[in-house]
Amino acid sequence: MTIEICLGSSCHVKGSKKIFALVEKAIKENKLEKKVKIAGTLCLGHCDSDGVNMRIDDEIVLGITEKNFDEMFKTRVLDVIK
Ligand code: FES
Repeated sequence: MTIEICLGSSCHVKGSKKIFALVEKAIKENKLEKKVKIAGTLCLGHCDSDGVNMRIDDEIVLGITEKNFDEMFKTRVLDVIK
């Protein structure tokens, strides 16, 4: 699985750096280093979403915030991988 976090300017303003760090931390905590790759990506073309956008494999996931991060990581990553 590959998680690409948008590092475009709009997502940057909405905290993409912080979300990137949360993804890294969650991967470590769940010992998924060998299963999940993390990368940055250019603007995904959904700058008007309510949070940071990312692409998980081929699926675009919009509006990630510190608040909804755990839920997103569980349903989009942990539940899929396990
Ligand atoms: S800057 Fe992230 S979707 Fe445009």
